[in-house]
Amino acid sequence: MSAGNAPVRTLEARYYTDPAIFDCERRGLFARTWQFAGHESLVRDAGDYFSAEIAGESLFCIRGHDGVLRAFYNVCQHRGHRLVQGAGSARAIVCPYHAWSYELSGAFRNGPNVASVPGFDPAAIRLAPVRCESFLGFVFVNLDDGAAAMDAWYPGVREELAAYVPDIGALAPLEWIEVPERCNWKVSVENHSECYHCTLRHPTFATGVIRPESYDIRPMGEGHVLRHTTQCQDLERMSYPIDLSVPHADEYRTYFLWPAFAFQVYPGNLLNTYHWRADDVDRCTVWRGWFTPGGAESEVVRRLARQDRETTVAEDLRLVESVAEGLKSRGYRPGPLVVDPAGGLNSEHSIRTLQRWMREAVDGEDS
Ligand code: FES
Ligand SMILES: [Fe+2]
Repeated sequence: MSAGNAPVRTLEARYYTDPAIFDCERRGLFARTWQFAGHESLVRDAGDYFSAEIAGESLFCIRGHDGVLRAFYNVCQHRGHRLVQGAGSARAIVCPYHAWSYELSGAFRNGPNVASVPGFDPAAIRLAPVRCESFLGFVFVNLDDGAAAMDAWYPGVREELAAYVPDIGALAPLEWIEVPERCNWKVSVENHSECYHCTLRHPTFATGVIRPESYDIRPMGEGHVLRHTTQCQDLERMSYPIDLSVPHADEYRTYFLWPAFAFQVYPGNLLNTYHWRADDVDRCTVWRGWFTPGGAESEVVRRLARQDRETTVAEDLRLVESVAEGLKSRGYRPGPLVVDPAGGLNSEHSIRTLQRWMREAVDGEDS
């Protein structure tokens, strides 16, 4: 923490390099915040399911006959075998080990010879549930049964995003791009959350998409959201056609949802997403999702995804992996953040906010 007028300093190296801190985040932070599990287009009909790995736990989401989407720990209530793998569709959930079966609602259905067990109470057996919410078609789970709803964590985002991407409910993924990064997940999230490096390191993005002098990143309300706003470069010169009659078609926005997901809206109301997975203390994976109505083929979106992969993503990969090396050096010491009271592109005020959340997650609210 800063004293008096001294600059705010970056986090100490151990936050990025200490396996004990990573373990603390995995069991704490990732288990009590909203984590992206998958897209609702995978689970449109009753019995459709997909599995996901969250905070070291295997879970699955499944659509019930009543239309409700539920999430469960992927563990049989008999002797603990995994119930499902990957994605698919089922009339009932049947454990591969001894064929105990469960309704789509998680209730016990049957098991070979269980009726012979004196006192066996089928009503007492059900799959262990996990909190689950669809956020405009994006399915998030939270291992904390007492967690506040997503609208309390990310107030206003649902409404704004629906206005910026009017067809968001009809979208499905066209392309997922997996980017393994040799760095702690926070290095990658921090890099994504500041644009102090944009004009220097992202020439395509800074000259072809955004207007750097208008770029700003601010916490949104009282929630755990960082919102990026900017005007765009000359829309006449964009590399793809834009229907300017759609509201907000001429804008660019990003909504980062702490701790590990971001919605990004390109000019033309085009949605793409970032999803960080913290694989280990020194490894993470960034998934870039690109969406079209119904997942329909789109040369424009494919081209944008490729351009993004070859420019911004590749450029950022080199940056974050270099920082990860630096954080392991004996020569690293926390440096002053460039926090400009006026904000703007060349300010790291968003990093100050992020690092406060990062500290709180590890050290508790009072540190
Ligand atoms: S562990 Fe699932 S039926 Fe035995
Ligand atoms: Fe970047």
